[in-house]
Amino acid sequence: MQTAIPSTTYRSGGILAEFSMKILVIGGGGREHAIIWKLNQSPLVKEIYCAPGNAGIGKIAKNVNISSDNIERLVEFSLETGINLTIVGPEAPLVEGVVDKFRQNGLKIVGPTEHAAQLEGSKIFAKGFMKKYNIPTARYDVANTFSEASAIIENYSCPVLVKADGLAAGKGAFVCKSREEALSKAKGLLEEKILGKSGDNIVIEEFLYGTETSILCFIDGNSIVPMANSQDHKRAFDGDKGEMTGGMGAYSPNHVYTEEIERQTEMEILQPTLLGIQKEKMDYRGIIYAGLMITKEGPKVLEYNVRFGDPETQAVLPRLETDLAEIFNKIVDRKLEDVDINWSEEGTVCVMLASEGYPGSYKKGLEIKGLEDIPEDLLVFHSGTAEDGKRVTTNGGRVLGIVGRGKTIDEAREKVYKNIDRISFEGAFYRTDIGVER
Ligand code: AMP
Ligand code: GLY
Repeated sequence: MQTAIPSTTYRSGGILAEFSMKILVIGGGGREHAIIWKLNQSPLVKEIYCAPGNAGIGKIAKNVNISSDNIERLVEFSLETGINLTIVGPEAPLVEGVVDKFRQNGLKIVGPTEHAAQLEGSKIFAKGFMKKYNIPTARYDVANTFSEASAIIENYSCPVLVKADGLAAGKGAFVCKSREEALSKAKGLLEEKILGKSGDNIVIEEFLYGTETSILCFIDGNSIVPMANSQDHKRAFDGDKGEMTGGMGAYSPNHVYTEEIERQTEMEILQPTLLGIQKEKMDYRGIIYAGLMITKEGPKVLEYNVRFGDPETQAVLPRLETDLAEIFNKIVDRKLEDVDINWSEEGTVCVMLASEGYPGSYKKGLEIKGLEDIPEDLLVFHSGTAEDGKRVTTNGGRVLGIVGRGKTIDEAREKVYKNIDRISFEGAFYRTDIGVER
C-alpha cells in the first residue's frame, strides 16, 4: 500500500520510494511514445520499458521485444524485471484480459478488466450499457443474420451506419449513403465475413449530424476525471475526404466543446457512465474515452474506447501539468480524487505523417530523413518506425506525429506546417487541415 506524504512523494514499506518506479508500457505507437515522454518527466520514475516499442521510444525507454498481445510473456517479463506498474496502450490486450492476468500475478496495472473492456470490445455490449443507463446515443438495432439486417435497414433513413460488433482497428464502422450500400456492407460482414468473427453480429445505427469530440478520462471506479478535450481527424484526406483511418491528426482544445456542452457531458454522459460501471460491478481503474458527437440536441456517445486515443494522446498529454505517474498510482489505489489534475491553457496540434497507400497497403522499411532538423519547440512522436542499423525506417501506416504548441491552435498549427516538410520518406503524406475549425 502506498500512502501519500506530500503530493509527489510516496512511502512504501517505510522506505522513501521516490525515483524508484519501474514502469512497463504495452504497445508501440505514437500514443505510447507520448505516454512515456510524459512519464519521463516524473521524479517517481526510475526506469521505463516498452513492449514492443519503436525507434523513437527506444531513445527514451528500453524497448522489449515482446508483442503487445503476448500476455503470458508480458507477465513473465514483469515478474522477472520487478515492474511496479504497467500501462496498456492498445485495446486488443485489454479485451483479451491482460489486466486480469496481471492482477492474478500480483502485478499492478492501469486498465479495465476483460469484463469492463467489453465497452470497446463489443458495440452491442456498449450500446446495451448506454441504453440501460440512459446515456444519450444514436438509435440502433442489432442483427445476427442478413435477413434480419435487411428488415431493419428498411426502417432507417440514409445515411445509416453499419457497424461490426467486434474490434476492427477503427475500420469496422461504415457510413452508408444508400440502402443498397447498407445491405451490401451488412452482407459483407454477416455472410462474406470481411472482418472475420468481428462481424458475426452487427449494429445498424442512425446517422448523427454534428461535430466530433474526444473526451478521454481517468477513472478509478470511485470517480471519473475528464482530460483536456480534443478532436481527431479520422478521414485520410483534407476536407474529411477518403477512407476512415486510425486518425490523421488531432488538436486540443476543440472549440465546439463549450462550457455548456462540458457541463452537459459531465451530467448526462460521464456521471451516468461511472454509475453504470459501479452498478455492473466492473473493476475499472484506467482510462475511458467517450467519442462524442455534439449534435443540436446536445452531446451523444458514438463509442467508448477503454484506453487512450491515438493520436489524441499526442495532442492532449503535452498540456498535462500534473505528474502522470502520480495519477496512475492514484488510479490503481482508487484514490484519484486525492490528486489535483491541471492543464495548460495552450493549444496543441498533432499532424500525422503517413505512408502512401494507408489505410490500405503500404511499403515498410523506407528511410526517414530529417528527424534531427526539427526545431526543439516541436515534439515528434513515433508511431510506425523501426531502427535499422543507424537508419530510422518506416514500419507502419501512420509513421510520425508532429506536435506544435502555441498560445492558440492557429499558432500551434502554423509551427507544425512550417516545419513538417523537413522530415521526408518516399511516399509520405499528411493532411494540411488539421486543427482548422469548421
Ligand atoms: P465507431 O467505430 O463507432 O467509433 O465509429 C467510427 C467513426 O464513424 C466515428 O468516429 C464517426 O466518425 C463515425 N460514426 C460512428 N457512428 C456514427 C453515427 N451514429 N453518426 C455519424 N457518424 C458516426
Ligand atoms: N483516434 C481514435 C482512436 O484512438 O480510437
